[in-house]
Amino acid sequence: MGTPADFIDLARYPIDDLQSPRGRALIADIKRNMAERVICSLPGFLRPEALARMVAEAEALEPLAYRGPAEASPYFYNYRTAVDLPSDHPRVRKTPRRLRQIAYDLIPPTTAIWQLYNWDPLAAFLAQASGVERLYRSADPFQALNISVMDEDGCQQWHFDANEINITLLLQPPEAGGEFEYVPLIRSTENENFDDVKAVLDGSRERVIQLQLEAGALVLFKGHHSMHRVAPVRGARRRFQTILGHNTRPGMVGSRESSILHYGPRVALIAPSQ
Ligand SMILES: [Fe+2]
Repeated sequence: MGTPADFIDLARYPIDDLQSPRGRALIADIKRNMAERVICSLPGFLRPEALARMVAEAEALEPLAYRGPAEASPYFYNYRTAVDLPSDHPRVRKTPRRLRQIAYDLIPPTTAIWQLYNWDPLAAFLAQASGVERLYRSADPFQALNISVMDEDGCQQWHFDANEINITLLLQPPEAGGEFEYVPLIRSTENENFDDVKAVLDGSRERVIQLQLEAGALVLFKGHHSMHRVAPVRGARRRFQTILGHNTRPGMVGSRESSILHYGPRVALIAPSQ
């Protein structure tokens, strides 16, 4: 269990040999899924030993996780849009957020998850799978790699992602609940479709798709136009998920304001204001 190559089931997912027929077939399969369903889950991506190690690491780091806001708007990454709107407008509506996050700077380079994230062949594979020329790891000292921790009753609010493609690894599903729920392409660049967004916030299940992700699954998801959430966790076993931040441009960092909100006031002491 030395290098990140050993963490991955390369017999099933030959990400180190993408020019081979099987490598090409894998990429084609992921792209087809992304195009048809906006999501692609690769179950068993992590080998069992690596998965067990990452779960143990997440458990050990869990006391460092910061709770952040208890509710948030679907458009939480863009704070300055919600001015002078009626209180039932989706831009100002908030749904519960009960999760804690371990920031990148608190995840030691000795951990398997840090090593996997910083392994160049992973970014090369994710770029091909995403259909872009190159993907770069986020340069944000706090946001680049996160471990999200949900205790019993934990959940994530309905939201859109700032990024076009979101890449996660589900390390440990809960005993029950904690399903990933999404509404494919509920909005587009041309149309915010606030009526349908409002209906989902009001509890409509008509267009909601629910997935229970498996432990060790790598998940690619187009979350910028597809509203999504994590349903409440049931049972005592924590849900652990890792978010692997990538961008199509190098050197990208998130907002300091967002990092202070999501990782705590300590961020203000570490990161000087610009
Ligand atoms: Fe998201």
